[in-house]
Amino acid sequence: MPPTELKKDVYWVGAVDWNIRDFHGYSTYKGTTYNAYLVLDEKVTLFDTVKGPFRSELLHNIRRVIDPARIDYVVVNHVEMDHSGCLPEILEAVRPEKVFCSAKGQEALLRHFHSKDWPLQVVADGETVRIGRRSVQFLETRMLHWPDSMFSYLAEERLLFSSDAFGQHWATSERFDDQVDGPELLAHAAKYYANILLLYSPLVQKLLGRVRELGLPIDMIAPDHGVIWRRNPAAILERYDAWSRQVTKEKALVIYDTMWKSTATMARAVADGLIQAGVQVKMFDLQVNHRSDVMTEALDARALLFGSSTLNNQMLPRMADMLTYMKGLKPRNRIGAAFGSYGWSGDAVRHINRELEAMKIEVIHPGVSVQYVPDHEGLRQCVELGLLAGRRIREGA
Ligand code: FEO
Repeated sequence: MPPTELKKDVYWVGAVDWNIRDFHGYSTYKGTTYNAYLVLDEKVTLFDTVKGPFRSELLHNIRRVIDPARIDYVVVNHVEMDHSGCLPEILEAVRPEKVFCSAKGQEALLRHFHSKDWPLQVVADGETVRIGRRSVQFLETRMLHWPDSMFSYLAEERLLFSSDAFGQHWATSERFDDQVDGPELLAHAAKYYANILLLYSPLVQKLLGRVRELGLPIDMIAPDHGVIWRRNPAAILERYDAWSRQVTKEKALVIYDTMWKSTATMARAVADGLIQAGVQVKMFDLQVNHRSDVMTEALDARALLFGSSTLNNQMLPRMADMLTYMKGLKPRNRIGAAFGSYGWSGDAVRHINRELEAMKIEVIHPGVSVQYVPDHEGLRQCVELGLLAGRRIREGA
């Protein structure tokens, strides 16, 4: 992918990974990009690098703009390996005067690469470094989403290099938001937020407040994944505000796994009750849906209904996977309930309820358990469960 000029003498020089399909448990059906940015000024500065296997692409792209040996500064906004995996080779080729990082970034770089002779220079939160006619202000964004994370703000260009924040896992030949399909872009941004940042929502709220307080004029947000926001950067800030306040709508998810279709039949009955109550319903059979797609839909769903058959006194393993994943991402302000069929012990509902409580989801019903195959009465109880959840949603839960 050739370099792209964002602003005069500011280039995207990253790499597009069309083939990655799993990003530590997050399904990346449409690949991703690793964005790096090069600013030509008195001190030529490279912001971030790329995943290890893409090192030659990064170097090739830099060479198409300038001799890599002319780079003076490298900024490490985030140490995770998709942005620093090729750092040893890049620093070897570039031999920069300084490598800027946060204090936590320095610790993380040393623990990743064990190299004591890199010219690391720790920058403080809010510190500004002049690179010529432009200046870079560093903003610590600790735990968004790693301890080392920071933003770099190129003041004269009103350009924010936002590291992972505002990113999307989406491989495209286009580099800007106004060149791609808007709803698809928003869907990728939502999936990214739901699966990477949701648990840090209180910190996102603080960060947005700080950005407002600083009054930084921003006319472009350049994240480390996906396309660059230039059409209306305020719009993605507004989406992050809503997502981090965990605003939900009149929507319920019915998430289930089943052995011999009894729990699937119950799931359809629960969905019938929800539909009768007038709320939007989405059904997810975990045998054919990926946990990260469920999580994306959970981003704005007020109710989460989980169904599992009982296997060996436990819930089914795909349900345990789903609940463990969701628990880590900390959805808040949700209601929930459990259902499922069993042969002789019927423990799945109890185990799911325990997980819902651990997730701070309000359990609105003790759960519906049916032995073997649901009869009319069993299905009526499932419809009632759906109606109850639907009414609670309509009442504002
Ligand atoms: Fe894209 Fe947290 O690395």
